[in-house]
Amino acid sequence: MAVIKSRSRRLTVISGASMEAAGELGVRFGCLNAVCGRCATNVISGLANLSAPTPGETAMGLAPGRRLMCQCRITKGTVGLDLD
Ligand code: FES
Repeated sequence: MAVIKSRSRRLTVISGASMEAAGELGVRFGCLNAVCGRCATNVISGLANLSAPTPGETAMGLAPGRRLMCQCRITKGTVGLDLD
């Protein structure tokens, strides 16, 4: 199991789950395909617990620590998001 958390809430998911689950914590999605950038979120802890950036994320040129929730998976542990 793994945990995705905002400042006020936590969500337990299976290890390897898509970070699209973070929609339950308030992340908003659009294209689901690394095009619109709507799901870009600052990761404030556990960045190493996310899968490697996809080519689509890399092409978007996100700031360090910022990931597209539609593109990454939580591989283990806890990931904290800058939400709330
Ligand atoms: S939903 Fe469009 S980039 Fe993630």
